[in-house]
Amino acid sequence: MARNSLPKYTVPSLTPEVGAEVAAILQQRLDALNDLALTLKHIHWNVVGPHFIAVHEMIDPQVDAVREMVDQIAERIATLGVAPVGTPGALVKNRTWDDYAIGRDSAIAHLGALDEVYIGVITDHRKAAGDTEESDPVTNDMLIGHLHGLELFHWFVRAHLESAGGALATEGAQTEQSAARKAARKESA
Ligand SMILES: [Fe+2]
Repeated sequence: MARNSLPKYTVPSLTPEVGAEVAAILQQRLDALNDLALTLKHIHWNVVGPHFIAVHEMIDPQVDAVREMVDQIAERIATLGVAPVGTPGALVKNRTWDDYAIGRDSAIAHLGALDEVYIGVITDHRKAAGDTEESDPVTNDMLIGHLHGLELFHWFVRAHLESAGGALATEGAQTEQSAARKAARKESA
């Protein structure tokens, strides 16, 4: 497949091999953030209950910001001389995670699950930033810039799940389903 072949050119001072390696890291981030943008819209549409409007309206600026990050990632891949793959079939084929697990549900259940989503995305984005720190500082800088936004949005989510003592209702959850249940249980307690 074209994505595995070496680019005919890349940015000055990088070898084609390094350009290809950085582009491969970025392709995974492209898939992850495209998935995140779609998942955020899904939550925007499926949230119900007393906190509907707060969460519904909190999500859209996150979608806009993540879409902007997606565009930056894809254009960085192209700048490196590699063709970014932005089709849904390729995303589903290459991703290593399952579809978001929650349908129509309360705001707090979605926020619990979204905490898990952001943990996964941010952990992998930080790893990608670390993996490009030496090889391509420009890509590293772009990914760090994304993390400023992603970690802020994660805090917006977690602030809904946090007690006055600073504990998270989702603590110990391993899946979106269990995080959603923990968050909902805490709210009704
Ligand atoms: Fe909308």
